Amino acid sequence: MRRLPRARLLALQLALLVASGAPEAPLSAQRSLVWGPGLQAGVVLPVRYFYLQAVSPEGQNLTRSPPGQTLFRVVIKSLSPKELVRIHVPKPLDRNDGTFLMRYRMYETVSKGLKIEVLYGDEHVAQSPYILKGPVYHEYCECPEEDPQAWQKTLSCPDKEPQIEKDFASFPSINLQQMLIEVPKRFGDERGAIVHYTILNNNIYRRSLGKYTDFKMFSDEILLSLARKYKYQVNVDGTVAAYRYPYLMLGDSLVLKQDSPYYEHFYMALKPWKHYIPIKRNLSDLLEKVEWAKENDEEAKKIAKEGQLTARDLLQPHRLYCYYYTVLQKYAERQLSKPEVRDGMELVPQPGDSASLCQCHRKRPLRQEL
Ligand SMILES: *[C@@H]1O[C@H](CO)[C@@H](O)[C@H](O)[C@H]1NC(C)=O
Ligand SMILES: *[C@@H]1O[C@H](CO)[C@@H](O)[C@H](O)[C@H]1NC(C)=O
Repeated sequence: MRRLPRARLLALQLALLVASGAPEAPLSAQRSLVWGPGLQAGVVLPVRYFYLQAVSPEGQNLTRSPPGQTLFRVVIKSLSPKELVRIHVPKPLDRNDGTFLMRYRMYETVSKGLKIEVLYGDEHVAQSPYILKGPVYHEYCECPEEDPQAWQKTLSCPDKEPQIEKDFASFPSINLQQMLIEVPKRFGDERGAIVHYTILNNNIYRRSLGKYTDFKMFSDEILLSLARKYKYQVNVDGTVAAYRYPYLMLGDSLVLKQDSPYYEHFYMALKPWKHYIPIKRNLSDLLEKVEWAKENDEEAKKIAKEGQLTARDLLQPHRLYCYYYTVLQKYAERQLSKPEVRDGMELVPQPGDSASLCQCHRKRPLRQEL
């Protein structure tokens, strides 16, 4: 029998070591899945994003971070070598469950389009490279889509928003004059955090009654908080709904949620014992519920996972745009008089597109009044 050369033996041993050190199957770049709004030119967001699910060579979804040193990478270039663009692509965010969040921020509009390569080592993942036919607008490009339905379709907005229907059911009409008198009295003085807006001809006017908060931070925060990693978390109200809740739901923890008269728009889709564990308003059963979760680990994990998946779906940044749009639309339908720019209001200017010329390829339409 021929003896294997020494170097060959060493390599074999090494291979065995690697195999035993990594119990999980390696992944298949080709079979892995890539999807999300960031692969569609038409979904304009401050931070565009898409998802990646690592899949084993046997076609099974990985449920943990892939073993080994190889990393996923995203390379984004302008389709046309003549168009120079600045695009920030942070490292993929490992969600530690076999999925990754890929993000990128464009600083300019690209007319021709984008080429997005998703790589695992040097291998292309799924259908990479992805070609986004231009124009791909950056967030600050003022280029409104004329047809709201086309816009909703691009964003895959849900057909129905049951929470919005319910919320507006007791307000068949909205008397702006009356609200102008009542609202500041009831909420402005005491609670001091009202921003009064008028949206007119696609312009936004605002006056602050009390302290003013920059609501724009919201969608960025959702992405940032994905990495949260506590096993049990308790969700308790402050003065209004606990805004921590969505962030908790997005993490991989089991959420224990206090009964509450407050809600946010997505609560309706989240059910006790399916997506979270309910606890009483006075917290008297908190320990009992934590005990339950400890004793029923499998079921608790299932609830945590179910909650996370549903929240991920509901709380995607582009879904928030859908939600706000529908709310404003409903509000507009019910107004008894035309909105006006009121005393003390200032125009909120659109941010300038200082980085590059932003050539809008649509005719700028006259907007309906909201
Ligand atoms: C694998 O993951 C993707 C994305 O999360 C999901 O749509 C699909 O149903 C999963 N497949 C299996 C076999 O679980
Ligand atoms: C907590 O609230 C429940 C009703 O939800 C009540 O039956 C119970 O007595 C309360 N416990 C305490 C300590 O107040």
